[in-house]
Amino acid sequence: MEQLLQQIESIKAEITAAVITSQDELEQFRIKYLGTKGLVKQIMGEMKNVPNEQKKEFGQILNAFKIHAETAFEGFQAALGDTETTDHSIDFSMPGDPTTVGTRHPLNLVRNQMVSIFKRLGFAVAEGPEIEDDWHNFGAMNLPEDHPARDMQDTFYVKEGSENQSAWLLRTHTSSVQARVMETQKPPIRVICPGRVYRNETISARAHCFFHQVEGLYIDENVSFADLKQTLYFFVQEMFGKEVKVRFRPSYFPFTEPSAEMDISCQICSGKGCNICKHTGWVEILGSGMVHPKVLENFGIDPEKYTGFAFGMGVERIAQLKYQVNDLRLYSQNDLRFLQQFKSV
Ligand code: DAH
Repeated sequence: MEQLLQQIESIKAEITAAVITSQDELEQFRIKYLGTKGLVKQIMGEMKNVPNEQKKEFGQILNAFKIHAETAFEGFQAALGDTETTDHSIDFSMPGDPTTVGTRHPLNLVRNQMVSIFKRLGFAVAEGPEIEDDWHNFGAMNLPEDHPARDMQDTFYVKEGSENQSAWLLRTHTSSVQARVMETQKPPIRVICPGRVYRNETISARAHCFFHQVEGLYIDENVSFADLKQTLYFFVQEMFGKEVKVRFRPSYFPFTEPSAEMDISCQICSGKGCNICKHTGWVEILGSGMVHPKVLENFGIDPEKYTGFAFGMGVERIAQLKYQVNDLRLYSQNDLRFLQQFKSV
């Protein structure tokens, strides 16, 4: 008995110390220990010589011995299997598969840049729904009932209004977000509102039925037209460089008084005259003005105490001047040859 136990211990030690580096060696190992004539079987065969009263204890020892040999074998097999697949299936000298990296859409690049410039001036970003009611898109913005912008020609109506129900429409400008901000926030308010807007236009190189705007709104005590001019001047200098020239022209918007449109020197021809600026050297980029007292009153903001300025501009127009994109349809056609030109900003 003693002798048998010693034999088992020494075989176990041998197994533990074994080093297997190839399939051949693994097979040798299997035959030597686990084969039909292997050592495990041989030792198991000794069971019949064990006295009855020791059979149970010895049986357990033998079982543990068998498991020890099998576990070692499986361990070697797994380790060998791994290295073998690695060795044969991956050739590290082969060139890798090219990874295609997507590009950001030019309108997103420009929108992000616009947002980051205004953020540096302390503007927060506000967003609103694209499906709006009549009040937020028109009424609150002081667009009278008979204003031509409400015409079925310009506005996509989702649901017509009735006497006691507001009409639902696709917002025609991001000025609707101004209304939503003033509804929930008290001055000082300083937000920009980037977003998509919709108009019922025939699609061409110069017009589309949807496009993007960035709206701005700043309301506080003592906000003046000078603040408006300086803010927008800073914006275009950051966007187009210090050389850019600006001019303000008096204009009309129902939600601002006074109102102005801002032109910048044409970025395509540097003011010399081209198709984009219609040979004037100037391109209009935004509408702006001092928030109309009626708009402030609509939201319970005292126009005697607070003043504000607002502006709205088209992202497509800014992108056109930055990248010389002359056909609005390119932005939504998803032609990779177009999109892949805009790798970074
Ligand atoms: N909502 C105007 C448009 O879509 C743009 C605009 C003009 C926005 C003047 C303003 C503003 O906030 O003050 O054409």
